[in-house]
Amino acid sequence: MTVHFIGAGPGAPDLLTLRGRDLIAASPVCLYAGSLVPEGVLSHCPPGCRIVNTAPLSLDEIITEIQTAHEAGHDIARLHSGDLSVWSAMGEQLRRLRDLGIPYDVTPGVPSFAAAAAALGVELTLPGLAQSVVLTRTEGRATRMPSRENLPAFAATGATLALHLSIHLIDKLTEELIPHYGPDCPVAIVWRASWPEQRIIRATLATLKASVPEEVERTALILVGPSLAQEGFEESRLYAGDYDRRYRPVGTHPRFPGTGT
Ligand SMILES: C[S@@+](CC[C@H](N)C(=O)[O-])C[C@H]1O[C@@H](n2cnc3c(N)ncnc32)[C@H](O)[C@@H]1O
Repeated sequence: MTVHFIGAGPGAPDLLTLRGRDLIAASPVCLYAGSLVPEGVLSHCPPGCRIVNTAPLSLDEIITEIQTAHEAGHDIARLHSGDLSVWSAMGEQLRRLRDLGIPYDVTPGVPSFAAAAAALGVELTLPGLAQSVVLTRTEGRATRMPSRENLPAFAATGATLALHLSIHLIDKLTEELIPHYGPDCPVAIVWRASWPEQRIIRATLATLKASVPEEVERTALILVGPSLAQEGFEESRLYAGDYDRRYRPVGTHPRFPGTGT
């Protein structure tokens, strides 16, 4: 018996890995974080599966569900939205399972920042504009931010920011970001990326507040940075005709021995 932690992706039932889908289909018990995992993803569960929404449960109650399935010898598919490596609350569950000696494995998923970038059709790291993406959030009621992880500190780098769990704090965000990126810096919000009702809002830091409709709340990703404009950047050297590289050596004295020229 194994607890399969599976990144359930941003919402669309076909934005799962094949491994994740097959593990869900093979597990007689499915625990899913119902606040963010849409029910469409549960279509992969087998007939007769015990399906439990863990949104209203405490950690103790979730672990009790797992222990009960473990004692019955049942595999469990444990679904969290996006990928499990960020803001999934997987860490605390794994620690309990290690203490209890219950086996588990982890299958990655499509993170919401990647789904949002795909919806926008943008590359977040454009040569000459940004070569880093900061995945971060603002402080929430349940989670404090470590003091050095503050928005102005990240903004000072000029990297592309992917702001999670922050759509309710547009005022604070713009106030802290404008001094670093300028009022004309492009911003995009993707609400419910990959869901049927997905919405995209494009604005600048100066116009953002007036651009966000009231119904756009909670499941929204905010992307900020010059890369969002998708212009004013250099072409990468990787594909430049005169760039000497292992797979496309240039000239009579290739720098990479053994490439056959
Ligand atoms: C608890 S975090 C989960 C993050 C998730 N583990 C991931 O890999 O993206 C929830 C936040 O992720 C973002 N999010 C999750 N799913 C989303 C989606 N489909 N569209 C836009 N943002 C999403 C929102 O910022 C939301 O407040």
